Amino acid sequence: MSGRIAEPAGDGRRHLLSIGDLGGEGIREILRLADSFAEVNTRAIPKVPALRGRTVASLFFEDSTRTRLSFETAAKRLSADTATFSAGSSSLSKGESLRDTAQTVTAMGVDCVVVRHRSAGVAVQLSRWLDAAVINAGDGRHEHPTQALLDCYTIRQRLGDIAGRHVAIVGDIAHSRVARSLVAALQLLDGGVTLVAPATLLPPAVDGWGVGVSSRIDDVLPRADVVYLLRLQRERQERALLPSLREFHERFGLSAERARSLADHAIVMHPGPMNRGVEIGSEVPEMACTTISEQVANGVSVRMAVLFWLLGAQPGIASTPDVEAAPAAEQAPAAEVAGG
Ligand code: NCD
Repeated sequence: MSGRIAEPAGDGRRHLLSIGDLGGEGIREILRLADSFAEVNTRAIPKVPALRGRTVASLFFEDSTRTRLSFETAAKRLSADTATFSAGSSSLSKGESLRDTAQTVTAMGVDCVVVRHRSAGVAVQLSRWLDAAVINAGDGRHEHPTQALLDCYTIRQRLGDIAGRHVAIVGDIAHSRVARSLVAALQLLDGGVTLVAPATLLPPAVDGWGVGVSSRIDDVLPRADVVYLLRLQRERQERALLPSLREFHERFGLSAERARSLADHAIVMHPGPMNRGVEIGSEVPEMACTTISEQVANGVSVRMAVLFWLLGAQPGIASTPDVEAAPAAEQAPAAEVAGG
């Protein structure tokens, strides 16, 4: 790889709002960049000066453990400054609007806003209002593009090329932004997808998704290279959609017995947070086929790649760091890295 990333498009600024923004080539470019950052993350001091002087703010209007920590870790490992905003402890509770809140944050000189919100479309709206790069870290049930990128990275790491692989996505598809972004990414990389769920947990427009659909997990598992499990997102369900959790587990849960019946090479994935005993058997997370910890670790490398892809080549930065030069740069004094 050249190590030099593409110039930013148009107005000199890019956003990551949905997987469709990237296309297949964009996804491959970010996964290649993530390989370089994965190497950085194996070092004794996993830090490079690539985004020194840049500020990344996380605006989380919805709960998050891993996505938020992952972005903050990624930004710090690139030497960016970080600022953090939590809905609960902000002036939102005093009636301030989303637009005024966001503009207040960016008026502090923020280069990139990482946003999570319960409403679909908030990230797109912020990208129109703000003079900063916007990354969608989950908007309602719409999209979660960095989760799809880290999942593709993990599949590629375990199984090689995604083209021709068959991914079974099981569980609450209707309320899942993870499923929407992952299906889009897998299709752009020529992977095959079957959604496995009861009819009440399938999105109304699923016929237009261009994927297989089944309500019988045991018919799908033997053909699966990847089994991707989704939590029941009850915070987004407006009415009772299932007879009982026990019945859901029996019909759709990946029990240890089902996991043992998978092909030897097959992997089991989950974006977290997981509910043991519901979508995933209690013992399955510890089985060798599961990639849950790898997904979390890869999330940091992939988000470093996304931040660098968005911010690393902007006009005004003293030097556009070459990611291949990062190992040497890390050892060098700051003035040398910045080009003088
Ligand atoms: C997911 C999310 O928030 O959409 N989690 C995550 O980002 N790792 C999935 C979920 O909440 O079930």
